[in-house]
Amino acid sequence: MSRFPSLLAALCFALPVTAEPLGLGRVAEPDEIAAWDIDVRPDGLGLPAGSGSVMQGEEVFIEKCAVCHGDFAEGVGRYPALAGGLGTLQDERPMRTIGSFWPFLSTAYDFINRAMTVGYGEPASDDEIYAILAYLLYSNDLVDEDFVLSRENFTSIHLPNEGGFYMDDRAQTELPLFTHDACMSDCKTDVEITARVPNSQ
Ligand code: HEC
Repeated sequence: MSRFPSLLAALCFALPVTAEPLGLGRVAEPDEIAAWDIDVRPDGLGLPAGSGSVMQGEEVFIEKCAVCHGDFAEGVGRYPALAGGLGTLQDERPMRTIGSFWPFLSTAYDFINRAMTVGYGEPASDDEIYAILAYLLYSNDLVDEDFVLSRENFTSIHLPNEGGFYMDDRAQTELPLFTHDACMSDCKTDVEITARVPNSQ
């Protein structure tokens, strides 16, 4: 007897026509989602309302960050410097800071908001993070001392190395240099002996 009908029956059994909820867990509350949804994009999406000045930032930075990163963001001991190094990326020992290396200010916002507050003192408020960033821009000689950073002018700030980052184009630029059809017959016409193993003939 053909086994086809029983196979078909097994398949029908295995593939439910409609996905029934399993009755596990619950739908996440909006404030639970908001607590996770904190990323900030280069085009400004995700930025909270708020603002902070260089002067305010200097105070917060000295209180919460300077113990590791130095009063002027120059770095203490082996803790990373967050300012300086402009023009050193081609050097043998490049100095990579927000000013010299990072592509977008949003990356700095995100990193500080995510990683440099929890466990390093009290969580910073949105205004404090704007202020810290204003101070870091100032420390990198990118704004004047009376500058105020806010959600409104955030995307007008361009870091010097923004153009140093681009989409991975190796499939177009490098791959063709290393890929070609392998020769499978009569590949070499003349054979030249260039070395011999010592004591062999
Ligand atoms: C207890 C020491 C400590 C404190 C306080 C601290 N940081 Fe950091 N920070 C670090 C260390 C260590 C790293 C390197 C972490 C890594 O590379 O993953 C770092 C990395 C960073 C970076 C990324 C640097 C880079 O180029 O990769 C930024 C930006 C930063 N910190 C900002 C801050 C700010 C702003 C504050 C204050 C709110 C702060 N940090 C407080 C220790 C500290």
